[in-house]
Amino acid sequence: MGTQNFRFGSIRDLEKKRKISQKKVDDSKSLDSRKKNGQFSTPIEIADEIMKYGLSLQKDSHISFFEPAVGTGAFISALLNNSSPDKVDKIFGFEIDEDYYEEAHKLWNSDMVELFNEDFTTADYSNKKYNLLITNPPYVRHHYLEKEKKAQLQAMVKKEMDLDVSGLSGLYCYFLLLADKYLDEGAVCGWLLPSEFMDVNYGKVIKDYLLNRVQLIRIHRYNPNNCLFDDALVSSCVVWFKKVDITENYNVEFSYGGTHDKPEVSKFISKRELSACKKWTHVTDAIEINNSTQTDACIGDYFDIKRGLATGDNGFFILNEQQIKENNLDMKFFKPILPSPRNMLGDEVMSNEDGNPDISEPLFLLDCNLDEEEIIAEYPELWNYLKCGLKTTATKYLCRSRKKWYFQERREPTPFLCSYMGRGSKDRLPFRFILNHSKAVASNSYLLLYPKDSLKKRIQENETTYSQIWNALKCIDVNDIEIEGRVYGGGLKKIEPKELSKVKCRELKKIVNQ
Ligand SMILES: C[S@@+](CC[C@H](N)C(=O)[O-])C[C@H]1O[C@@H](n2cnc3c(N)ncnc32)[C@H](O)[C@@H]1O
Repeated sequence: MGTQNFRFGSIRDLEKKRKISQKKVDDSKSLDSRKKNGQFSTPIEIADEIMKYGLSLQKDSHISFFEPAVGTGAFISALLNNSSPDKVDKIFGFEIDEDYYEEAHKLWNSDMVELFNEDFTTADYSNKKYNLLITNPPYVRHHYLEKEKKAQLQAMVKKEMDLDVSGLSGLYCYFLLLADKYLDEGAVCGWLLPSEFMDVNYGKVIKDYLLNRVQLIRIHRYNPNNCLFDDALVSSCVVWFKKVDITENYNVEFSYGGTHDKPEVSKFISKRELSACKKWTHVTDAIEINNSTQTDACIGDYFDIKRGLATGDNGFFILNEQQIKENNLDMKFFKPILPSPRNMLGDEVMSNEDGNPDISEPLFLLDCNLDEEEIIAEYPELWNYLKCGLKTTATKYLCRSRKKWYFQERREPTPFLCSYMGRGSKDRLPFRFILNHSKAVASNSYLLLYPKDSLKKRIQENETTYSQIWNALKCIDVNDIEIEGRVYGGGLKKIEPKELSKVKCRELKKIVNQ
């Protein structure tokens, strides 16, 4: 068998047809549904580049290729385009979506290609094994996975791999672990994944798998400022490993930017060092792995940091004065809340005499701790308003997991806030530090910085300390903050409370010691 199997024209012609099919099916679906189903295909230039590298690692004389999430077959096209005729014996794959499957089937159906319109995670054809797996699996965030599906996936990974997957994991984590049973001894695998698994807690199970069940060869991270991906909010990397049992120490390549052939940065790190490294994206940033020796003052030495309130549905729970009046709602159920950073003009929020932010359109958070019976009996207008959210807001992920769907988290106002995402530049911080003189709380588009005792003491002694602290935060070195945050596609940066707490800020030490 071989690529001569394709009688309909050259692979290049088939690729042209595939691109048209891909666009046709993509356009027939809403962006929201594509996000929920993880349907962002790999641009062929990237699929080709990845495939060339994968083929350079797989030295077997024949290729049997496995693709658990085919789409229209970008990687099938790349395989056939980049391997010599007769080298490919077999191509086997799954695609759950009928529309993508139909197109893939029309394009690639032949003696050598066997595709199934089935859910890869539950299908089991693992009596057959393959020596090359290259894919871009569905990312699908955990809150889009049905509760039962998540439990089923966790149970399957436990049974097959004896590994515990966190409930916060995206679908791609299950894909990677459940594909193990299809791998022949020595199989080469390339997974195009969101880089975040390298840094977040739920990624630990994947890192354990890569370090202990296979031989990790390389992780190439694409530069998010320079990316070809449609799903521009995700920063992507390709994880390369070989299915072999290896106990001794070895070196793993970490590269960043450019292409596999010509990365902007590349360095090797031993498996042993990598096992001790918490955030793998930092390996290419020339950052000291074990920062336990760090003695510099960090923000977390002076502040307790929490993420702002996750309301579950800002559009429903955050209202302006006019909406509150129109619905005849009692102001006692509302507390002031800052607008999102996008809608905040300045970085200093003054207060009016009520403690509300002195801004053009103050906003208020609906925060009621009463149960339904009491609301119905005592506050019928409020109940009328809540009723409007029963079929929509109440069914959303966060709301339905609360004791009462309309209860809000507890967060006290604080004078110091930091925006949770931003872009920035070489000389401008990606995140904004806000000085808040009002009693407004803030949503989860901010991190809230609560001064610890040493700072509180200084503030009590001298009110001007507020501005000094604010200036100290605004003067943080861009590099110091970028090292701790994460970068997403298109250069978007995010920082979590734990990460912000590790950012160096020597000026705070001076303020406390003055
Ligand atoms: C990120 S896209 C990538 C498609 C293709 N591999 C590529 O690189 O262009 C992931 C594909 O997986 C499919 N998919 C999602 N869940 C699946 C499942 N449980 N089993 C098989 N395919 C699935 C989606 O419909 C989508 O076509």
